[in-house]
Amino acid sequence: MKVGVLRERREGERRVALTPEQVVRLKGWGFTVYVEAGAGEGAFFPDEAYREAGAELLPSGAAVVQASDLILRLHSPSGEEIRAFPSGKTLVGLLQAWRHPEAIAALQEKGWTVFALERLPRITRAQSMDVLSSMAALAGYKAVLMAADHFVRVFPMLTTAAGTLVPARVLVIGAGVAGLQAIATARRLGAQVEGYDIRPAAKEQVESLGAKFLPLTLDGSGEGTGGYARELTPEEQARQREALAQYVARADVVITTAAVPGRPAPKLLTAAMRKAMRPGSVIVDLAAETGGNCEESVPGQTQVLDGVTLLAPVNLPATLPVHASQMLARNFTEFLGLFRQKEGSPALHTRDEILQATCLVWQGEPITQTA
Ligand SMILES: NC(=O)c1ccc[n+]([C@@H]2O[C@H](COP(=O)([O-])OP(=O)(O)OC[C@H]3O[C@@H](n4cnc5c(N)ncnc54)[C@H](O)[C@@H]3O)[C@@H](O)[C@H]2O)c1
Repeated sequence: MKVGVLRERREGERRVALTPEQVVRLKGWGFTVYVEAGAGEGAFFPDEAYREAGAELLPSGAAVVQASDLILRLHSPSGEEIRAFPSGKTLVGLLQAWRHPEAIAALQEKGWTVFALERLPRITRAQSMDVLSSMAALAGYKAVLMAADHFVRVFPMLTTAAGTLVPARVLVIGAGVAGLQAIATARRLGAQVEGYDIRPAAKEQVESLGAKFLPLTLDGSGEGTGGYARELTPEEQARQREALAQYVARADVVITTAAVPGRPAPKLLTAAMRKAMRPGSVIVDLAAETGGNCEESVPGQTQVLDGVTLLAPVNLPATLPVHASQMLARNFTEFLGLFRQKEGSPALHTRDEILQATCLVWQGEPITQTA
């Protein structure tokens, strides 16, 4: 198989879908790898490193697409790019297909096959390919660093000749991948950390990181299918906000990461709850891109409201391009391992649960997805 890697063109994007290390693995499997010149520059992987790993460098994205059977790309290509594409290739990426239906439709018209890795099922066999978890872990880590940077006090308890400084109180709402990494990072910085999630199973994980689990109970379980949270009813959400309010008010830093797959982010923090926080406190809303856990969040913006800093960062993993690219490249390569196992089989997308869940278009035919 001929695999092509394109330079990412989205503003601020510094990651790349394949690193030289993973080129070596693909070459070992007998794949040919084409890389667009400069593709790894933002993540400090020079063209020379790809060449040494066995890739062939091509001067333009168009040349890479022409030469390859399968293209790796983080973001959906633009309409202009797709118009110039030849027909009948395969795209694998973290495409956020639900946000770019027009790009998927255009690829379909060109007779392409499209796999969107944000649709990977969170099953054990797919863990090594789980791009969303890789990126969420980095985002959880970075969210805490941003909070510490904007906070007007220190995180750890400091005993100095000038007196003892009390540690910051950090509350992390949503204890999935990003939330647990945020808890671990805040603990490492010496903060007093509390965590909360509607899935009862999260309690043990929060506590194992040395944080306290908030003693809030729902009527009924917050767990839905497949180990994920379910979407709460409006009444349950209102009760949840009421119960959370006192913990939010006394926190110095609140990091929100609550998400329900395929649904807009649950609104957990109202303007009134933010107003009850002390001036100088910080909120980081990691769910801004899917609607936000805080009703006042504006994606990509930092606001100071009555002295409380509210950050709603997007694409945080792009600020850690080296490790983010390493993780993505590993995830993508593992995914391509499925193609290697099933190469040559007709209707390959039906031959494996993971390929089935991620395939949106097969040779120009839309695949109906149930979730
Ligand atoms: N800003 C960025 O750069 C960036 C990067 C990566 C991920 N994210 C976002 O971070 C968020 C978390 O990602 P993740 O991979 O950790 O998701 P995840 O599914 O692993 O975790 C989400 C958690 O939220 C919990 N939850 C759902 N509804 C809740 C509620 N009402 N109250 C409390 N908890 C609730 C779930 O039980 C789950 O544990 C997502 O919104 C994701 O899009 C942002």
